[in-house]
Amino acid sequence: MNNFHVLGFAGSLRVRSYNRGLLEKASEILPEGLVLEIMELNDIPLYNDDQPKDNLPEALKEFREKITGADALLIASPEYNYSITGVLKNALDWASSNTFGNIMKGKIVAIMGASRGLFGTTRGQLHLRQVLHAIDARPLSRPEIFVRKAGDLFDDSGHLVDTATIEKIKELLTALLETLKAK
Ligand SMILES: Cc1cc2nc3c(=O)[nH]c(=O)nc-3n(C[C@H](O)[C@H](O)[C@H](O)COP(=O)(O)O)c2cc1C
Repeated sequence: MNNFHVLGFAGSLRVRSYNRGLLEKASEILPEGLVLEIMELNDIPLYNDDQPKDNLPEALKEFREKITGADALLIASPEYNYSITGVLKNALDWASSNTFGNIMKGKIVAIMGASRGLFGTTRGQLHLRQVLHAIDARPLSRPEIFVRKAGDLFDDSGHLVDTATIEKIKELLTALLETLKAK
């Protein structure tokens, strides 16, 4: 069986981002049949509808090519002010506008999120689902992963060590694999 290629990115640029930590843990516990490539969004410019289509900045071109080539996405994002981060929204806008072409249409997306607070990105993920609906993507509805009080669940070197959260990520990856197989 060929592997399904999953592209993962975090809605945070922070070096010690808990959300990138979730993606890194996912890459360590992948079920057979999935490969995960984690990409950084640091060099993606702010969305500009005037950007000439035939001269996209390299990072943006690469981002769009990687999305097009991926069988699915795995997004881990913090919640900023009860919503998704500007970094994530900006990237999704570049991937979906009519001007540059909606490459998110029909894309299967697994989502998770970690915050330092008690709500574990619940509100942010609801907004993310709304955005994914607008751009015609196909988010998995279950399992939901809301990682609360993230500061307590990572070790000093930034590795996720909480076994319950690791189990949840395994469940999400299995659900993603099953969804891809059924496609
Ligand atoms: C501008 C801003 C707004 C934030 N708003 C929220 C929020 O609404 N809810 C929440 O749980 N945490 C909020 N936080 C805290 C983040 O959850 C916390 O910084 C988290 O560690 C960010 O994720 P990261 O570690 O992946 O960068 C906010 C942080 C920033 C910088």
